[in-house]
Amino acid sequence: MPRQAFVNGRYVPHGSAAVHIEDRGYQFADGVYEVVPVVQGALIDEAPHLDRLERSLCELRIAMPMTRQALKLVSRELIRRNRLSRGFLYMQITRGVAPRDHKFPEGAKPALVMITRQMKPQSHQALTEGVGVISIPDLRWNRCDIKSVSLLPNVLGKQEAVEAGAYEAWMVDPQGRVTEGTSTNAWIVTQDNELVTRDASTSILNGITRLRLLDLIRRDGITVSERAFSIEEARQAREAFITSSSNFVMPVTRIDGQPVGNGHPGLLTGKLREAYLGFVEGQEESA
Ligand code: PDD
Repeated sequence: MPRQAFVNGRYVPHGSAAVHIEDRGYQFADGVYEVVPVVQGALIDEAPHLDRLERSLCELRIAMPMTRQALKLVSRELIRRNRLSRGFLYMQITRGVAPRDHKFPEGAKPALVMITRQMKPQSHQALTEGVGVISIPDLRWNRCDIKSVSLLPNVLGKQEAVEAGAYEAWMVDPQGRVTEGTSTNAWIVTQDNELVTRDASTSILNGITRLRLLDLIRRDGITVSERAFSIEEARQAREAFITSSSNFVMPVTRIDGQPVGNGHPGLLTGKLREAYLGFVEGQEESA
């Protein structure tokens, strides 16, 4: 069976899947999305991803296009049809199709697109040597907690990182404090061994990997501070890492070309990655 997508109520071949040119997602970025990791065919942390999707929709006053239960059934069917073992489920919901006009259209039905994609194995080199990040100004709006498809500053930031030979860009607010990566959350271990990640607010996307890791950390009795940290503090840190649905926990060993700590992935970073992978394994078994 060729790769399939789910578009507005129908399973269609991925290669010819299409939405209308007056979909408001296309014209106004008037929509939201979620990326859920799939490991051994199991959706990892599906419930909090769906909670965040519902929250993003609610903030934008877009209705769920189908019930949560139906969304879960379609997710599983798409994974089955695509024989997806390790990868992602991508869901996008927009305000729908309507003649172009900024104000909310009357009677438009929310549009839903779902696709799956295989995950490339994580780079051994990146995991053993760590990756580099650059710092850039955070040019985004004031509601970064909504997982909106409006990602232009993130796209430009990631491209800048790639062109600088780095893996990710950490965005810095006007007060000189790191908000997050362009598609990841940012963490450091300070000189005083304080594990820090920015507190969840409208300035960052509250990552599901971030939330899960916070839970695992606290269960392990490790102390963690949710607070803003400056890019200067990050440069002086002992360890740094990023979290996301596609990276899980990835060590950061260079910031703006300078080594973090001794320039090698940190011990605590390694321990937290193992803890997260252990959690993922548990989800596979219970799926
Ligand atoms: N990115 N911050 C931003 C700006 C993100 O886009 C993401 C996720 C995260 C991490 O969130 P989570 O742990 O829930 O994946 C933080 C996804 C993977 C993406 O855009 O592809």
